[in-house]
Amino acid sequence: MAHGHPIFAAYYRLFGGLADRGGFADHRRRLLAEARGVVVEIGAGTGLNFPWYPAGVEVVATEPDPHMLRGARKAARKAKAKLSLRQAPAESLPFPGGSADTVVSTLVLCSVPDQAAVLAEVGRVLRPGGRLLLLEHVRSGDPALAGEQDRRERTQVRFAGGCHPNRDTLAAVAAAGFETGAVEPVSLPGMRLTRPGIAGVARKPVG
Ligand SMILES: C[S@@+](CC[C@H](N)C(=O)[O-])C[C@H]1O[C@@H](n2cnc3c(N)ncnc32)[C@H](O)[C@@H]1O
Repeated sequence: MAHGHPIFAAYYRLFGGLADRGGFADHRRRLLAEARGVVVEIGAGTGLNFPWYPAGVEVVATEPDPHMLRGARKAARKAKAKLSLRQAPAESLPFPGGSADTVVSTLVLCSVPDQAAVLAEVGRVLRPGGRLLLLEHVRSGDPALAGEQDRRERTQVRFAGGCHPNRDTLAAVAAAGFETGAVEPVSLPGMRLTRPGIAGVARKPVG
């Protein structure tokens, strides 16, 4: 990841906004209205979430890929919220434990090499009672589509910046100790393979 995915990042800078115009932006808007206080975004990509943060929050958007960060820098200028950028992978966030009220992950847990390591790091950075806002495409509950996701995983990983279409991300979030009662299944716009999704607020337990 040190050098990132230049071709996928160029594609995402050019075409990432198309899915947003096709309805994905509504999911972002609804989710990010839930952001509170000090917000850490992981895998911010080209900054497609930035316009949707409410004015009162303070966002530090992190992203490891320098090619994605180019787009994010541009998007940051248009944010209503106070927003800064840091180059960092989600497995090793440059923040003290318990320093964030909110962590945001949209279309990232499909792409990180190790979900458990990332979720442990998110749990470290969040304060007790802090919230993880999730919008992710996931493994289908339909065995036929899940089978197709399995068969096409290698191609997707290769051509879509390391994206695994077949991960049971909600189970991973629950296994990491988060309360997931307010995370719901959603149908996302775009291609069939990445349509099954989850959206909502997971919480780090207080005790
Ligand atoms: C499909 S893009 C999504 C970008 C953005 N979150 C969005 O909603 O448009 C996946 C992002 O995950 C990032 N990513 C991949 N591995 C990562 C890691 N280990 N830590 C943090 N981000 C990572 C990629 O660089 C890329 O920006």
